Amino acid sequence: YTRRLGRRTIQHSASEPSNQPPLAFVFDIDGVLIRGPKPLDAAKRALAMLEGANPMGIKIPYVLLTNGGGVGEEIRRKRLTKQLGYELSANQYIQCHTVLRSVVDKYADKPVMVLGGKFADCRYVAESYGFKKAYTSLDVHAWNPAVWPFHELGPMERESTKAVDFSQTPISAIFVFHDPRNWALDIQIMCDIIQGGGIIGGAAGNDRKFHDAVEQKPVELIFCNPDLIWRSDFERPRLGQGAFREAFQAVFKALTGAEYPYTQYGKPTQATYKFAEQMLRDHLREMYGPSKALPQMYVAGDNPESDIAGANAAGWESILVHTGVYDPRQGPPTHQPTQEAVDVEVAVRWAIDREL
Ligand code: G3P
Ligand code: MG
Repeated sequence: YTRRLGRRTIQHSASEPSNQPPLAFVFDIDGVLIRGPKPLDAAKRALAMLEGANPMGIKIPYVLLTNGGGVGEEIRRKRLTKQLGYELSANQYIQCHTVLRSVVDKYADKPVMVLGGKFADCRYVAESYGFKKAYTSLDVHAWNPAVWPFHELGPMERESTKAVDFSQTPISAIFVFHDPRNWALDIQIMCDIIQGGGIIGGAAGNDRKFHDAVEQKPVELIFCNPDLIWRSDFERPRLGQGAFREAFQAVFKALTGAEYPYTQYGKPTQATYKFAEQMLRDHLREMYGPSKALPQMYVAGDNPESDIAGANAAGWESILVHTGVYDPRQGPPTHQPTQEAVDVEVAVRWAIDREL
């Protein structure tokens, strides 16, 4: 049967719910909804439109998809609810390492190094996903401060550590969950683990044992956010986890002659968008009951390299806003959006006018 909704006649098969709106949104966070700790005024007005203040008076579904992270999803959702003024359900918030929930089984009982974030925050996130032996670079420094002689653990750092003998603990994978706080310490430890075939301080250099160790079961390296830069509340974009990856690879290449192979998650990778689409479908089912077809998807983002590239590859409409990384004065964006908008309120209004 057909139903008019705004300018569209919506074709519904009997099984499709009649009240699912014709569009849904995916919002990036940094540079679109907030900058550093501060929410943008345009963000509150944009969400008000989605929560019902629109020509049809209907709620329009949306999820938040960020390359940020560093704390548990629950903690960040509560923080965002306070900042933005609207309750977010569990299926409405996806951060850069949430996708690791879908791969944790492979590593659940193996010792892994979890890098990034403050103190042991990312260990707790890893454990909440099911990692049972998640260690931090602060644990390594507490085990043997000579690993990096240019750092002294502060009281809160020391308090966050676990007692581990890393000479007996072969690390199977290194996960960079969030942006490392001590790039030098973390890069040193990543090189030690990889060159020691998993053992920090293990067989290094060019002897046979080292090559056998690395060739037999090379340590896996996983990054969760490729952003070279991102927009916080400083007037210029800041270096992101992608910059850390570049720094590590430059050092590793200087040491060994080649960069180290790695797996990349986060926007714009396909794995992250597939995972995000599934969470969006779960959210739509929560709101409207079972439905096969996704509504017309609109993505609002500030970074052409992540938000626009990812949306375009997913086949979703992309709207590039001017409140974050991208600055129109620098010329055309590296990835062509469906539409540009000065801010997220203009972006949402344009999409609603187009669909309703
Ligand atoms: O660390 C966060 C930054 O890389 C970008 O976050 O929300 O703009 O994807 P977001
Ligand atoms: Mg952003």
